[in-house]
Formats: sequence, C-alpha cells, structure tokens
Amino acid sequence: MSTQGMVEELLELSPRNVLLGALTVLVAYHLWLLIQKWFDTESPPGPLPWPIVGNAPQLGNTPHLSFARMAQKYGDVFQIKLGNRPVVVLNGDAIKQALVKKGVDFAGRPNFISFQFVSNGKSMAFGDYNEWWKVHRRVAHSTVRAFSTGNINTKRAFENHAISEMKELIQIFLSKTAEEKYFVPHEYLVISVANIMSAVCFGSRYSYDDIEFQQVVGRNDKFTQTVGAGSIVDVMPWLTYFPNPVKTLFEQFRDLNKEFNEFIMNKVLEHRKSIEPGIIRDMTDAFIQALDKGISGTVGVVLGKDYVSPTIGDIFGASQDTLSTASQWVILTILRHPQLQKALQDEVDQVVPRTRLPTVEDQARLPYVMAFIYEVMRYTSFIPVTIPHSTTADTSINGYRIPKNTVVFVNQWSSNHDPKKWTRPEEFDPLRFLDEDGALDKDQASNVLIFSVGKRRCIGEELSKMQLFLFTAMLVHQCEFKADPEFPISMECSYGLTLKPKPFRVACSLRDSLDLLDSVVRLPFHSQADQEEESN
Ligand code: HEM
Repeated sequence: MSTQGMVEELLELSPRNVLLGALTVLVAYHLWLLIQKWFDTESPPGPLPWPIVGNAPQLGNTPHLSFARMAQKYGDVFQIKLGNRPVVVLNGDAIKQALVKKGVDFAGRPNFISFQFVSNGKSMAFGDYNEWWKVHRRVAHSTVRAFSTGNINTKRAFENHAISEMKELIQIFLSKTAEEKYFVPHEYLVISVANIMSAVCFGSRYSYDDIEFQQVVGRNDKFTQTVGAGSIVDVMPWLTYFPNPVKTLFEQFRDLNKEFNEFIMNKVLEHRKSIEPGIIRDMTDAFIQALDKGISGTVGVVLGKDYVSPTIGDIFGASQDTLSTASQWVILTILRHPQLQKALQDEVDQVVPRTRLPTVEDQARLPYVMAFIYEVMRYTSFIPVTIPHSTTADTSINGYRIPKNTVVFVNQWSSNHDPKKWTRPEEFDPLRFLDEDGALDKDQASNVLIFSVGKRRCIGEELSKMQLFLFTAMLVHQCEFKADPEFPISMECSYGLTLKPKPFRVACSLRDSLDLLDSVVRLPFHSQADQEEESN
C-alpha cells in the first residue's frame, strides 16, 4: 500500500482507528510526563498519573494504606495527582518537619468545593489560614478549655455531663441486651457523645428516640466520607454535572450541611431570646456574649456576631464523629481482647472502690487505662489522614520544592505504624506506653499522631482524652462486655475522615447493681462567672 493509502486508511473514523488514536495519545502523554519527571528533580517523586483521573484509582478503599505503600517506594514525601490537581502526601517523620518546623507554610486549607458548604463557608476548621482564622481559632480554643479542661471546676462540670450521659447509655445497653441478647451499639454511642457535647454547647440533651436529633447527628458518616482526604468530588468537580454515585453523595453532603447549619442557627436564636447579661449558661451563651461585642485581631480584623453559629457548629460538629468513632473502637477492642477487659477492670478496681464511680481525678492513678486509650488511638489511627492542608507560600520539604496553594495530605497512620518508631507496630499492646515503674510514658504517648500537630492541631484534644478516659473507666468499672459468638470480630473498617469499624454485636451486663448509677444526679448548669469565682 502507498503512504498516501495508509494515511487515508488511518484517517477513516473506524472504531479500530479511534482506539489506535486514543492509545497513541495516551502513550505520548505518558512519555511526556515521564520525560518531565526525569528532568524535574526538584518536585517530589511519585507514581505516573493517568489523564483525567490522575492517581485516584490507585488509592483504593484504604487510601492511607496505599499512601504508606507508596511511601516505601518513593519516600516520606511524594506527589500524586488527583484529577488534575497535584497533591503532596506527607508520611512518617516528614509530617513534623512540615507541620511544626514550617508550620505557617503548611497551615492552609485548599479551596475545595465541599469546604464552602461547612458553616456556609465561615468554618474555622475548613477555612484558610489568615488573620481572621487566627482570631477565630483563639476564641474557639479558649472557650473549649473554659468548658472542659480549664481548671478543676470546669473539669468537674464536664465530668458531670459525661457521667450523667454514661448512666443513660449503660441503661440502654442493659435494656437492649435484655431484648436482643446481642445488639449493635453504634447509634447509641453516637447519641451519647452528641448529648454530652449538646449539654456543654447548648445546655440541653435529647432523648434516644428523638428523630430530629437522630437525623442531625446520625448522618455524620456522610459528612466525613466527603471531607476525608482522597474524596473525589473536590478534585473532579465536573462529576457533579451528570448523574453518578459521586454526585449523589455530594448532594447528600450539601443537604446535611444545610440541615446541620439550620439546627445550629435555631439553637443560637433560642439562646438569644433567653440570654441575660452577665449569665453564661453554656458555650453558646459564651460565644454570643464575646462575639456580639466583637473580638479584634490585627488591624481591621474584628470577628462579630455572624461568627457565633459557625464557631459553635465547628465545635459541636468536630466532636461528634471523632468521639463516637473512638468509643466504638474502645468497645470493639475490649471484645477482641477479653484479657484486656480484665486487666482494665483490675486496675480500676484497685483505685476506685465499689462505693463510688471513677472521676477525672482518678486519671493520674490509672496509667493502664490511659495506655490502653493511647494504644487504641495508635493502633486504629481512626483519623488516618487529617483534614486536607494546603501550602500558604512557596516552600520546600526534604529538599523538594512545593509551590504555594499545593494540596497536602498528612498520613497520620504512617507515623503510628512506622517500624522505626514502634516495636511490632502491627500488634495491639498497651504496655508499650508504660515505663518500668508502671507509670504512663508521656514521651511515648506524645508520639501517637491522631490529633495532628502544628498550627491546625485539634483544639479538642484535651477534652477528648478526658472524655475517653471517663468513658473507658466508667464502662469497665460498671459493666462486663461479651462479643456475639456467631459474628467473628473484625477490625475491618470503612474509610473517610474517620475510619469506622464495621457494625459489631455486643452483650452488656452489670458487674454489681444499678445503685451507684442511680445515685448520679445531673448538676444544675454552672455559669462561667460562677466557675471563675470558685477557682479564684
Ligand atoms: C478523639 C477525638 C478527636 C480526634 C482524634 C480529633 C482529631 C482532629 C484532627 C486530626 C484534626 C485535623 C487537624 C489538621 O487538619 O491537621 C482536627 C481538627 C479539629 N478538631 Fe478535632 N479531634 C477530636 C475531637 C475533637 C473535639 C471533641 C473537638 C471540639 C471540642 C474538636 C475540634 C476540632 C476543630 C475545631 C478542628 C479544626 C482545627 C483547625 O483547623 O485549626 N475535635 N481534629
């Protein structure tokens, strides 16, 4: 055949030729990328991306594990592409190098489409790093402390909310065991955690049958599926233009944010109707009183009354899925290792007599309980990758150049399972957190990476540790848990911002009587002014 004939045949739009053409473009594109990468020694290394989707298909159902595998090949700092967007993934020691040593450079949040829906775009947690964010974070952090770990009185007030709620939870557990023998605890843990934070934030709690509350707090898993690192809609927003599962999930995300924002705004409105000057009943009152006056930052920056709802929304929202997921892992771990349940009970029994319930003051004398909690956090790494970050300036890490506005994923899981840092990281062993005298090894505990580090470090860390301590100590002091022998215990989980265990079934029985729990009386809500007076 003549050359002209061949060209004519190729130009014919037959299926074979279209396929051939597409393959040629694909191969050429890959070669082009390969050549680019070869000469670009300044950018982090990483796998070659595909056109349109980038490396998204390589993340699979467990992106944190895929990232850890890629880190073995490319090093602690590598780069992938999601859709068309370059993403730098930080693993192991590179995390502290970036987030602590170059804190400001890595403190941004990407301009993701999903983030705009959280608190109508006024969220501190999902907002970018700037002067407004600094004031916002300062007021949120100090208020969380003032209602939880600030001093012994605030700790006691928080403890009272937590213990009153644990009483309800244990009663539900007992009645479900009586009805069903083995039951799935998930939804009760969600409501229980939400009620503790509702008491702190709004001064009220909800019944376990309240449908409205169940809806507002029970769909957090949809929220965390969308904002978790590797969520597709943010890097391929064109997927929202035609029907597909990503679009459906995104629409659910938009609707649940709308519903959640309305719930919070109604709470704030109710508070505004009954608030009295100088009296602070709960966190919402505290934010109203502070923000209505305006809180100033650098010149020209004043955070005003329109930030009340977003701030309380950030705190109430951020605490739900995190603490309820942590509680699920605590119970699942106890079921998986019955000998640990016994060890926990033995320690608590030595310190807390059967005539009273555990208190916050017991925490220092219960190192094994704390070691267990740290090991649950390390082993499960149930927030495997933080909320996505972005760079606020052109910067570098481990010698690689990273331009301003690059999306950054922080793989906490990789640090918690790094064999250089942990002996046999794949084993669950609370003893790794105790020193030879049996005291909590604080240095080792501080190596657990689950609340992140640097400028974006979680503001609920201390509150969460106190809450998880009270939860674990109370449960083992009062109850005995058994797994359903017909369902093998699985540590399998579903991925999102939080890793959630697959539903499991449990039976709960009392170790003694209900007398101690019956004696728990909910304290009247303290005003912050009272608390400050008492502590002086
Ligand atoms: C076990 C429970 C919890 C865990 C493991 C956890 C973990 C985290 C993580 C990993 C982040 C993202 C940090 C980053 O992007 O680098 C975060 C942010 C945040 N957390 Fe938590 N959290 C927990 C509970 C709470 C609670 C109870 C509150 C509220 C009192 C809270 C409030 C926040 C807020 C407001 C942010 C955003 C901080 C910012 O962007 O500056 N968290 N948390």
